[in-house]
Amino acid sequence: MTETVKLEFEGKIIELPLVVGTEGERAIDISKLRQETGLITLDYGYANTGSCFSSITFMDGEKGILRYRGIPVDQLAEHATFIETAYLLINGKLPSRKELHKFSILLNDNSLVHEDMRSFYEKFPRASHPMGILSSMVNALRSFYPELQSLEEEINITMTRLLSKVRTMAAISYKISRGHKVVYPRPDLMYCANFLNMMFHTPVKPYRIDADVVKALEVFWILHADHEQNCSTSAVRIVGSGRVTLYAAISAGIAALWGPLHGGANQAVVEMLTEIYENGGKLQPYIEKARDRNDPFRLMGFGHRVYKTYDPRAKIMKRMCDTLLAKLDRHDPLLDIARELEQVALNDDYFIEHNLYPNVDFYSGIVLRAIGIPTSMFTVMFAIGRLPGWIAQWKESMDDPNWKLCRPRQIYTGDQERDYIPIDKR
Ligand code: CMC
Repeated sequence: MTETVKLEFEGKIIELPLVVGTEGERAIDISKLRQETGLITLDYGYANTGSCFSSITFMDGEKGILRYRGIPVDQLAEHATFIETAYLLINGKLPSRKELHKFSILLNDNSLVHEDMRSFYEKFPRASHPMGILSSMVNALRSFYPELQSLEEEINITMTRLLSKVRTMAAISYKISRGHKVVYPRPDLMYCANFLNMMFHTPVKPYRIDADVVKALEVFWILHADHEQNCSTSAVRIVGSGRVTLYAAISAGIAALWGPLHGGANQAVVEMLTEIYENGGKLQPYIEKARDRNDPFRLMGFGHRVYKTYDPRAKIMKRMCDTLLAKLDRHDPLLDIARELEQVALNDDYFIEHNLYPNVDFYSGIVLRAIGIPTSMFTVMFAIGRLPGWIAQWKESMDDPNWKLCRPRQIYTGDQERDYIPIDKR
């Protein structure tokens, strides 16, 4: 028999079913609440609301656990490639050698971008943010690649197109922003190496592919590949619920990710660390500002809606920062500041009381800097990494027979009914 939770309201007791996930997390199913009581729930930021059942990603914010399809993210970061991880997220299982080979061929076959799209890039003002450009261009893809006849083919091809072309589009936008010749994808290079080559190869300085840099990028993208019902993923699911195309849903996800409280934090962290560095490296004024409730300043790269302990992705990212800089024999003064800032914050009462720990974005910018990615492209890198997650979550929502148009309610606090007053009588 289903366990229930009793709710007493206006002398009547109603029983609401309790649902339990495979990891034991429990929720009250309120689907019948309004029908039976006339009540709705109010939950700012949906902090207590589960929007769906999902079998893609499990995270435990108290214990610092993150698993994709059951596999701990640290195991994937150590052993898998980003493409294997994408396959796992979308298809629910790790690919066999043959399946992986087929997937790689499909990605390669879909890696080119329609030449006419180049003229779009060229017309954006030079100062445009790459996230705005990416969101617009992904939405525009539908016009260049019209719908296919069979729904299954349409879904499979669209998913592959997005995974492959978004990477090419990001590199094109970087090349055009620098006024450089666009570099085409190469069939002999794997996904990550291909991206690096499209970004950094020039006719006068061929790009030398370094296995350590490729590995760092693989790990960066694996760590960003999914994070259950976060802001941008919810945007993809919500926009998708209106039955728009996958292109439009992903474009909405990119727009949501752009914000500094979400994916845009990686850019904001490096800007903050740079400012601290340029102001002489004094940390205390920034800690004081973060503690001050009247100051909107927040320590970027710290805190998380779900993690109330160290973000497991941040641990891996921090280790990778050290390894990569050592291997490249490079010193980044921002890493020194980040390490020091972390220590000061972790020992500060305010941060302890509020359970504020470094999140994935705290060290990721330093890894991206070491790879050579410009700061303005950081959130685009996050977006490429998050694509498999968005696609998997969108697909899951489309396959869910209970998924319906997302349409929250509200508690109205405006004027009660009043009459229209003609303009000369106001
Ligand atoms: N610096 C200073 N205070 C903070 C911070 C921070 N980074 N984060 C949260 N707080 C305080 C906040 O002021 C509030 O204090 P009080 O209760 O005294 O008013 C309390 O902690 C709770 O904050 P909240 O905004 O209600 O909590 P949230 O769960 O909505 O916040 C967050 C999550 C990520 C928006 C927030 O921690 C933040 O703004 N962090 C900085 C931006 C950042 O690094 N974002 C990247 C998140 S990880 C990447 C991703 O997956 O999106």
